[in-house]
Amino acid sequence: MKIPTKRIALEYLEDAYKNNPGNWKQHSLMVAECAKSIAELCGLDSEVAYIMGILHDIGRREGVTEMRHIYDGYKFLQSKGYTDVARICLTHSFPVKILKSYSGKIDCTDAEIKFIDNYLESICYNEYDKLIQLCDAIGAYDGVCCIEKRLIDVAIRNGVNEYSIEKWKSFLKLKNYFDKKCYTNIYSLFKIKL
Ligand SMILES: [Fe+2]
Repeated sequence: MKIPTKRIALEYLEDAYKNNPGNWKQHSLMVAECAKSIAELCGLDSEVAYIMGILHDIGRREGVTEMRHIYDGYKFLQSKGYTDVARICLTHSFPVKILKSYSGKIDCTDAEIKFIDNYLESICYNEYDKLIQLCDAIGAYDGVCCIEKRLIDVAIRNGVNEYSIEKWKSFLKLKNYFDKKCYTNIYSLFKIKL
């Protein structure tokens, strides 16, 4: 798999945080911890899962952006040759493979939008894509929270659109999927923030 070591991933995160300080660094660490714990239980590589969690939002290194951060993260990691984690930057925001389902501003150029659209269309989500989608939804910067709470928080912050319900269903499906894969309710692995 083409991914950096944990040490390099943490260095990238630290550098990116210096460029653009914010809660997103703690969120990335939380997503990484969640992904590691779930991966350990369901037979995925927990170190790979951790590294993917650390880097999924690395596009935030370029500044405060919305959809742009996924494209910037992809470009950054691709330029380093880390293809398998670069894809996570693009896939983590799309449990539903519809560009307009993005909860936030679409601040990419037309060419970038087209690229993201074609890219998502061309791939099948793997276990790590799904795992980071789920962990992105439950890993807040200050703890792990239940998925419904997180979805409401995002809806209040960014608004809803015609794809919101479909997206929420996909997140709930992901939670179910990993519960089954882990033979437990994944919430039991964490101290859930109320
Ligand atoms: Fe995230």
